[in-house]
Amino acid sequence: MATTVLVFHPHLADTSRVNARLLAELKASGASDVTVRDEYALYPDFRIDVKAEQAALERTDRIVLQFPFYWYSSPALLKQWEDEVFRPGWCYGGGHALDGKTLRLVVTTGSEAAKFQPDGAYKRTMDELLSPFEVVARRIGLTYEPPFLVQGCATIDEAGLDEVAKAYVKAIAG
Ligand SMILES: Cc1cc2nc3c(=O)[nH]c(=O)nc-3n(C[C@H](O)[C@H](O)[C@H](O)COP(=O)(O)O)c2cc1C
Repeated sequence: MATTVLVFHPHLADTSRVNARLLAELKASGASDVTVRDEYALYPDFRIDVKAEQAALERTDRIVLQFPFYWYSSPALLKQWEDEVFRPGWCYGGGHALDGKTLRLVVTTGSEAAKFQPDGAYKRTMDELLSPFEVVARRIGLTYEPPFLVQGCATIDEAGLDEVAKAYVKAIAG
């Protein structure tokens, strides 16, 4: 099973601590059949190569979208990527390019999990906030797998980061 991890982090190479660590652990694992695409590095000017993105998705069985949570949503390039890559006639509206593949989100949040509860500070769960991705997946023929969440990134210590990095590698490459 080929897995492609599309990472949407505007500061992966400089300020990222958690996503950079997860990806370093994945690389160190030497996992075969896992390809990582750093989308902000590929398209710093937001000029997305739609054909290249579609080809990358066609080549894989498991699609992973990985991003830091920004304003209870994704960084901007991911939204634009969806708008441009998911074309009618290709993956919906008569197109079936992605049928039978899976989608898994990997999302890191600064705030801790307790805040994303009906009785928490934000009054909304992560499932609710991520639901547009689940509906999109269904609409374009993908099976939506439960997201891999890393929460409380603002305060996570090195031991905690070690633990989630190992769990991440198992989830993505195991
Ligand atoms: C512009 C911006 C918006 C953010 N919005 C949220 C948010 O809505 N909820 C949250 O929990 N964290 C938010 N954060 C914190 C990031 O999600 C967090 O720092 C990141 O996931 C940690 O991963 P990293 O070390 O790879 O950057 C935001 C950070 C930035 C820069």
